Amino acid sequence: MRQPAVTIRQLGAEDAGGFRALRLKALVSAPTAFASSYEEDAALTDEMLRARLVAAPSAVFAAFAGEEMVGMAGFAALSGPKRRHRGLLWGVFVEADQRGRGIARRLVEQIVAHARQHVLVLEAGVTSGNDSARGLYESLGFRHYGTLSKALRIDDAFYDEVLLSLDLAE
Ligand SMILES: CC(C)(COP(=O)(O)OP(=O)(O)OC[C@H]1O[C@@H](n2cnc3c(N)ncnc32)[C@H](O)[C@@H]1OP(=O)(O)O)[C@@H](O)C(=O)NCCC(=O)NCCS
Repeated sequence: MRQPAVTIRQLGAEDAGGFRALRLKALVSAPTAFASSYEEDAALTDEMLRARLVAAPSAVFAAFAGEEMVGMAGFAALSGPKRRHRGLLWGVFVEADQRGRGIARRLVEQIVAHARQHVLVLEAGVTSGNDSARGLYESLGFRHYGTLSKALRIDDAFYDEVLLSLDLAE
């Protein structure tokens, strides 16, 4: 069956419900890929989610297959005079049945374009072994600058985090 065209746009406060549903699906289906736990994000109120979506220059972009939200990626700007030239790529997720179509690439490209307007350095963390996310980010120019061992703990298992950054001024 022909799949609907995928469009990408920035989310606004009115998208909070769809954003919550996709974010929770991401945290359930890929718990080792994200620093937040399902329980933490499930406890966020609608108001907190709406605030997160309109906290410019921080932003969340989502991919839609027809009307359905099937992927997302976030940009968070750091605050304070010494760190506000830095931003963080977070929450990159694409529904399993939509993977391999270049949706994550388009989402991350969108975040990079957005970040260029606001910061000089874009950072990302990838759980060690997540070769598809790391491969994607490195193909877009992110460079590995370190690895934090035992960055995440889930029950009794520890996971290292590969630290990447993209110098937008280069
Ligand atoms: C990682 C993820 C977002 C990729 O989504 P996707 O839409 O399938 O990705 P794309 O189709 O855009 O592929 C992007 C790139 O990934 C890279 N890639 C994919 N599989 C790879 C692999 N096994 N090894 C190395 N690179 C790989 C390639 O560079 C590919 O580029 P291409 O366009 O030249 O093929 C998706 O698998 C996902 O949601 N995983 C669970 C959550 C997660 O891990 N999020 C990342 C948190 S840092």
